Amino acid sequence: MLIKIPRGWEISENDTTSERLFADRRRLVKGLVAGPTMLAAGGLLAACGEEGPASKANAAEVSPKSLAGGFEDPTADLYPVTRNLRYRVERELTPENLATTYNNFYEFGSQKSIHEAAQKLPLRPWEIKIDGMVEKETTIDIDKLVRTLPLEERVYRFRCVEAWAMTVPWSGIPMAKLVEMAKPLGSAKYVQMQTFMDPDAAPAQRLGFGYPWPYTEGLTMAEATNELTLLVTGAYGKPALPQNGAPIRLITPWKYGFKQVKSIVRFTFTDKMPKTFWMDLGPREYGFWANINPEVPHPRWSQATERLLSDGPSMLWPNVPTQKWGGYGEYVASIYDGMDEKTLFY
Ligand code: MTE
Repeated sequence: MLIKIPRGWEISENDTTSERLFADRRRLVKGLVAGPTMLAAGGLLAACGEEGPASKANAAEVSPKSLAGGFEDPTADLYPVTRNLRYRVERELTPENLATTYNNFYEFGSQKSIHEAAQKLPLRPWEIKIDGMVEKETTIDIDKLVRTLPLEERVYRFRCVEAWAMTVPWSGIPMAKLVEMAKPLGSAKYVQMQTFMDPDAAPAQRLGFGYPWPYTEGLTMAEATNELTLLVTGAYGKPALPQNGAPIRLITPWKYGFKQVKSIVRFTFTDKMPKTFWMDLGPREYGFWANINPEVPHPRWSQATERLLSDGPSMLWPNVPTQKWGGYGEYVASIYDGMDEKTLFY
């Protein structure tokens, strides 16, 4: 018999805007650090909540031109870009209408169906600040950035910490190129990335929810300059949609999905390990490294298998084995040589 326990992210839209609930959630999230079993009962918060996939029948039609205000991406002429065939994936591509309607973007709500709410994100003007330990701090317009640095398409596997997975043709700039442009000082050890802060557009930022906005993530310099690390500006041969983190987001396919920070406005080079959004909320569950490993369970569930995001009821999602480093060990395992394996997976 199936007993359905409502999850935190299944609360109704009205409830998600209640300040009382935000406050309660914050208290519970803090409780998670001290007592994870409390969340195990109801799954009140997770970096990537589980929810049944959208079906083809009910997925909204979304395209760059259907964005609020008739926004048309000024860089649309650049797409599709040439696919880099060095990175091959044995899985089928996830249908576009699923990858663009089944999302995590907590700024717009904690449910998977935030794609419509995310259309409120104003994508232009969009300036990106590069600061901290660099030769010269600078601010660059997204269109200039996208037209200056090389774009390519890469098909990557994507794995959420809570076990759903997809395969997406991303378009983007190898992050090593941005780092080269930024000219970090030799003493810089990390780069912190920060999402926009726009309470008018993003209801969860307006109401706070007790979350440590803005969403931030970080990488070591070796991770940021690894050949796999992509600053994604497009997907499925078009400019990225807001719900997928337009106009620019991170993709490191050997790390769990919560590392893949969306809609970035700032890159800060530093010699201190940045404290991230999720480390603040639950460091035992969502740590800095977040490298994919089937042998290291999350404190509340196994990571041995994953469910491919595809059509059909969630109960029928296939279980496929999770691969260490997401299957990208040949490119990234050496980054972590000599480091304590116990610390690398959360
Ligand atoms: N970035 C921001 N700014 N806000 C978020 O809530 N969610 C993360 C990550 N990046 C998130 C974010 C999580 S938990 C996941 S699984 C992925 O985005 C989801 O990316 P997708 O919606 O494109 O599949």
